[in-house]
Amino acid sequence: MQRWTLDPSSPDWQTSPEVENVCAALLNGELAAIPTETVYGLAADATNGIACARIFEAKGRPQFNPLISHVASLAAAEEHAIFSDEARALAAAFWPGPLTLVLPKKKSSPISDLATAGLDTVALRVPDGAVMRFLSEKTGRPLAAPSANTSGKISPTRAEDVIADLEPSLSYVIDAGPCAVGIESTIIGLGDETPRLLRPGGVSREDIEQVLGKILQGAAESMQQDAPTAPGMLSSHYAPNASMILNVSEASPEDALLSFGPERIPGADKAHAEFNLSPEGNLAEAASNLFVAMRALDATGASSIRVQFIPSLGLGEAINDRLQRAAAPRN
Ligand code: TXA
Ligand code: MG
Repeated sequence: MQRWTLDPSSPDWQTSPEVENVCAALLNGELAAIPTETVYGLAADATNGIACARIFEAKGRPQFNPLISHVASLAAAEEHAIFSDEARALAAAFWPGPLTLVLPKKKSSPISDLATAGLDTVALRVPDGAVMRFLSEKTGRPLAAPSANTSGKISPTRAEDVIADLEPSLSYVIDAGPCAVGIESTIIGLGDETPRLLRPGGVSREDIEQVLGKILQGAAESMQQDAPTAPGMLSSHYAPNASMILNVSEASPEDALLSFGPERIPGADKAHAEFNLSPEGNLAEAASNLFVAMRALDATGASSIRVQFIPSLGLGEAINDRLQRAAAPRN
């Protein structure tokens, strides 16, 4: 595995000789961990079925769970999907950024059936992370990329998290430092008449509803039963080794404490370990720290992580979604 460390704030990396090597690996059907503004993605050429199969194999991921394809621009996205007026409005408002649109797939799109799990829809995202956009443009391929972690485990927001988990499967890890948003993209389904929130994420429900001028529905029940269409529909996800206890009003000396905001709950100062997601109570900061905090508290060896109440407003909805998955019964 090659590690390429770059400084995303200077454009120098775009002319690095590493670019050619990463592009060659991707075009050869190999896997590369590529940073985005949300989390690190385990990327492969989305048009190459064998490459996509390698993603599933590396993650140990159930094959019914389709992948997001990342492209460089709205124009590139339009090669793969049919955009309604609503889809266009959301793309204009939030791309590049942490929003994924699930849209009817064009018959002419070369994205492989393995990436879409055979559905007649495709999940597309133009990320704010410049490296992913650049590599999609350079290779001329949509890049399929789920979060670069073993299926069911905590998503990676730093290159070292990826390496610890997936090194043997990777040709390349591109290290551009920690991810700014730190939580995965919001997924909106526009495949039928009603826009649906399939997974809360880095763009808040409120901001999307404002652009659409309507309330987002939840995922259709038929989708939930037959084919889980977003990781939110699999019961256990983002799971640390420790068990998770949510919305606690008291800390315990045996347990680690995941706190939020300035308020100190009883026993907080005596907790086994503590990580405050945002001492000021800022939800965006809390989202960006969530996965690092879960890893850090898990590494203390505490058998449980207690989580203080976090309001479900704005990015709080995505934070609580991930915490509930982490707390769900494990199979
Ligand atoms: O922020 C993110 O979205 C990250 C970065 C790397 O971009 N990616 C990510 O991918 O979280 P992943 O694979 O862990 O989650 C994408 C989810 C899938 O679990 C799948 O259920 C849903 O998107 N999805 C993909 N294609 C779909 C489709 N055609 N219909 C419904 N849901 C779909
Ligand atoms: Mg994931």
